[in-house]
Amino acid sequence: MTSDHEKYIRRNIHTYPFKYTYNNYDDFFKKEQGSIYIHIPFCSSKCHFCDYTVYVNTDDDLREQYVAALCEEIRRFPDNPVFPRFAIEAIYFGGGTPGMLTAEQLTRILTACRDTFDVSPGAEIAVEFDPKSVEQAKIDTLRDAGFTRLSIGIQSFDEAILRDCNRPHTLADIDRAIDVVRKSRFTHVNIDLIYPLLGLTNEIWEESLRKAIDLNVACITVYPLEVWEKTAYHNWIMKKGKQLPKIHEEKQMALSAFTLLEKAGYKTGSTSGYYRPDLCDNYCVFLDYYWRTWPMIGFGVSSKSVIHQYLYTNIKSVRDYIDRIRDRKPVMDFSTLMTKDQEMRRVMIRGLKVGNVLKDDFLTRFGVPMTLVFGDILQKLKNDNYLLETDEEIRLTQQGQLYSNAVWEQFYTDDDLLPPQNNEIQFGISELILD
Ligand SMILES: C[S@@+](CC[C@H](N)C(=O)[O-])C[C@H]1O[C@@H](n2cnc3c(N)ncnc32)[C@H](O)[C@@H]1O
Ligand code: SF4
Repeated sequence: MTSDHEKYIRRNIHTYPFKYTYNNYDDFFKKEQGSIYIHIPFCSSKCHFCDYTVYVNTDDDLREQYVAALCEEIRRFPDNPVFPRFAIEAIYFGGGTPGMLTAEQLTRILTACRDTFDVSPGAEIAVEFDPKSVEQAKIDTLRDAGFTRLSIGIQSFDEAILRDCNRPHTLADIDRAIDVVRKSRFTHVNIDLIYPLLGLTNEIWEESLRKAIDLNVACITVYPLEVWEKTAYHNWIMKKGKQLPKIHEEKQMALSAFTLLEKAGYKTGSTSGYYRPDLCDNYCVFLDYYWRTWPMIGFGVSSKSVIHQYLYTNIKSVRDYIDRIRDRKPVMDFSTLMTKDQEMRRVMIRGLKVGNVLKDDFLTRFGVPMTLVFGDILQKLKNDNYLLETDEEIRLTQQGQLYSNAVWEQFYTDDDLLPPQNNEIQFGISELILD
């Protein structure tokens, strides 16, 4: 007898067929890497261009109450059941002027972070000063306490411009501050400059750049001015007819910065940040977290947090902040949950701000190739000579660096450009309509 017996597969699909591997338990459950931003909202005077949440003329008592509340907010972070425990790779004390606090207060805040989070031994601990607040004993104590990066806001080496901006310092203060820093053990030192400012010419700007380069510091940041409503600059330019340098002069200033700094051995760490690879390993670890939309936990008034899809900002008022912490109430002010589409656009804009976006990173993060999502935009930017694409990454050309706003806006949707509706708050664009 012949058999017509046919083979068949009896497949029973119980679930999705994962493939497992034998992993090390500690590696598998390792903490996610993150960063911390701490806002210190005190300054000795308010600069005419500045929009940050800043209080001047505060007394020691208020500053001490704020520090105590800040430590409490930090220590309460693990009470939020939504977030995992993070391994912290960078802590940034920004402001305002953190240097206005005592070394003991800054160290106490750092200790609250170390007690609450798993701060990696090699973590970057960065702090901002203005030249006037730089004092030898304070700087040395902070270095001993583990602070690793020191940033000083110089803005300009022109006395008249400093005065016209209402900066808290003079040229003599800069000299004194640099002398202190030279005698300290800080090697990862950054100075900030801004362009354009009212009264700034390219000649004065190049002179400031040369003086900055002569200091031999590890990092130089050249911030393009943002003019925000409610600042003296906004009022003067929009209502009083004061004129900023024209747009072609501003482009020339950006180009001068790029050319002079590169010639002096600085590499770009972001569109505004430069570092000397012979003096430090990187521009700023914290700013990588910030720009690359990696986890950033904000503490203090007006600080922003970006943790996975959660984006939220703390209240602005120091008094309210202290009261709410005392009453064990949340200090969050406003928030949004990012959609995947928004997160992808944000990653593109902010990644390009620090120079590039790696295709593999995008794929790992979103599970889809960058070219599939943004192929048309990338093609247009390449045709316009704003962008370079290789198998590994996309990065800005020098033309893209100079005209970077034209790049960023490609990633905005029409909805993003609509004005905020009732009760909505929007960040991200400062716009002046000028003749
Ligand atoms: C918090 S401040 C640094 C520490 C200290 N408060 C100071 O100004 O020296 C950070 C930097 O932001 C920059 N900045 C402030 N307002 C700006 C604006 N409107 N546009 C661009 N950069 C600005 C300045 O270069 C400043 O040094
Ligand atoms: S010192 Fe710094 S934070 Fe304070 S007002 Fe001036 S730029 Fe803003």
